[in-house]
Amino acid sequence: MADMTRVLVINGSYRDDGITDQAIAVAVGVLKGEGANTEVVNLREYPIEFCRNCRECTQQPGTDPGKCVLGDGMYELIEKIELAEAYILASPTNFSSVTAVFKRFMERLVAYAYWPWGKPYPKFRKQGLRQKKAMLISSSAAPAWLGRWSFATSRQLKMAAKTIGAEPVGILFTGLSSMEKHKRLTQKTIDRTRILASRLLGAG
Ligand SMILES: Cc1cc2nc3c(=O)[nH]c(=O)nc-3n(C[C@H](O)[C@H](O)[C@H](O)COP(=O)(O)O)c2cc1C
Repeated sequence: MADMTRVLVINGSYRDDGITDQAIAVAVGVLKGEGANTEVVNLREYPIEFCRNCRECTQQPGTDPGKCVLGDGMYELIEKIELAEAYILASPTNFSSVTAVFKRFMERLVAYAYWPWGKPYPKFRKQGLRQKKAMLISSSAAPAWLGRWSFATSRQLKMAAKTIGAEPVGILFTGLSSMEKHKRLTQKTIDRTRILASRLLGAG
């Protein structure tokens, strides 16, 4: 992938400088160093309302996301998603799943489904069109091997990537992250973050 690749980072952590923010900072450093154009959206500060399940956005056919009836920040965020060529999707594990702000964002991605009344299930508009790439980031108090396989977080992040038309290049899952108040990333985690960030640009 050429320089100036647009990378959109969507961060579902609630904390400044927590594990998620630190991992994102490392990845963004790598991406910027490679000449990529990066933007970080912290969902904790972003004005997104809950999906109303009116399904208006799902009635419109085509590969473009349907238009939502809510005139909130999701309109602009979908524009950013559409313009980006690669993504970092990040959320800590809270109560065995992505955080509530990330889930709220994910539910609004229903605009990426074509699901007219009368059809029992949706068809994902970007299915089969997965040319984009996504790096996934999560963490948990549980050890990484356990958290990665037993919590819903990894599956949910993959589902979000698939919905917006991206193929995951890998997941950074940091375990045992809650023993100290201001835990710093280990060198091993930093190294893996760098590898995955490079993969996002087609290297590594
Ligand atoms: C409300 C809440 C729920 C949590 N639930 C889980 C959980 O179900 N399993 C787990 O292993 N860790 C859980 N954790 C720990 C977080 O996943 C962990 O601290 C994570 O690294 C926080 O990310 P951050 O550093 O970006 O804030 C929870 C933490 C909080 C505050």
